[in-house]
Amino acid sequence: MAQPTATDRLLALLPPTAQNRAASFVEAGALVTEVESPRVMLGLLPSAARGFLLQRGKQGVPTLMPARHLAHFDWSYTGAQAEMRDLYRRAKQQQWDAEVALDWSVDVDPLNPERPILPYEFFAFERFRAYGTPLPRGSKEELRLRADLATWMLSQFLHGEQGALLASAQVTECVQWLDGKFYGATQVMDEARHVEVFHRYLTTKLCKLYDVNDNLFVIIDALMVDGRWDMKFLGMQIMIEGLALGAFGLLYRLTEEPLLRDLLRYVIQDEARHVHYGVIALREHYRTALSPEELRERQDWAFEVALLMRNRFMAHEIYEEHYAHLMSRKEWNKNVAESPGMSEFRHTMFERLIPNLRAIGLLDERMRRHYEDAGLLRYAGGRDASQLSGEAMLAELDARGHGDLASAAS
Ligand SMILES: [Fe+2]
Ligand SMILES: [Fe+2]
Repeated sequence: MAQPTATDRLLALLPPTAQNRAASFVEAGALVTEVESPRVMLGLLPSAARGFLLQRGKQGVPTLMPARHLAHFDWSYTGAQAEMRDLYRRAKQQQWDAEVALDWSVDVDPLNPERPILPYEFFAFERFRAYGTPLPRGSKEELRLRADLATWMLSQFLHGEQGALLASAQVTECVQWLDGKFYGATQVMDEARHVEVFHRYLTTKLCKLYDVNDNLFVIIDALMVDGRWDMKFLGMQIMIEGLALGAFGLLYRLTEEPLLRDLLRYVIQDEARHVHYGVIALREHYRTALSPEELRERQDWAFEVALLMRNRFMAHEIYEEHYAHLMSRKEWNKNVAESPGMSEFRHTMFERLIPNLRAIGLLDERMRRHYEDAGLLRYAGGRDASQLSGEAMLAELDARGHGDLASAAS
């Protein structure tokens, strides 16, 4: 078991509510030390203050984010982007109605061991024995934790989808290409449908909804208030959607619950187009329109945010709900990070993300060394979103079979 630090010991002296509050300050402080680029860190600080310290995502009231971008009008309606036009055509043809496409009459019981939402192997349950709370396979507590983990992940998907809905509306205003605006309008519709389906699944089938994770809030806040259109694309279309696509693919592979599997199948097809759009939009812009200094800033930002996404999505909302009395936050982080499901989650996330960073020019020699040091360069040779359609991705996922975590890592 990890030795408690001085911070852990101080936190343990506080009552639970104060512990959680203090832990948020510790998280914000840790962000300052984790982010190596001073410029990226300074850029993220206001969002970190709103997310960690002010807890803007967890107050039960709407959050107002000041948007400082410029809406781009072109009264000549000229210029054609063939690849964007093609995506727009495909997006129109692939629209679906969640009321009709999905069978909402399916009875979902998140505690049913015959149709688990996540496999037992997802989490390192045997580790709980060390804390005097064994969670034997099939016990009520074990099934509850598994269902909560799935609900937590799906809640973050929902919150991310709301971010995508608003960000895609912003980028539809910002982009200079008419075909980009046409395509963006279809993405706004897609994201509205994704919010609809995840919200419906969570509230009518799992009957539970977790707050937005502070780290996710910080990244969404940062890209929403950044006035530069390409930072919105980079943050949402490449980073968050890349992460989401990896996570959706993994959950699609692992879940035994048929409605969720169908739902994810539809969403994955949409998301593959969204990331493709991000790659097309940024590829040319980053190659031709930025100064070396501006390109360097994007490279550092993407790298730091990729590491934040890898290191900080640790289901703290579940820890605070059930396990804060049992182990320190640091121990919880270690147990979650080393669980087979989360390892696989990181693998699928970077498998999708890193090739896209290469495709848009953010993986030059300098950055390759950084990614190599972080153990992520092995993903650099994969196919980017312009080379892998949603249909091809689903065919690959289907070919791997489903329900078995061990085969997912191969
Ligand atoms: Fe989406
Ligand atoms: Fe999307």
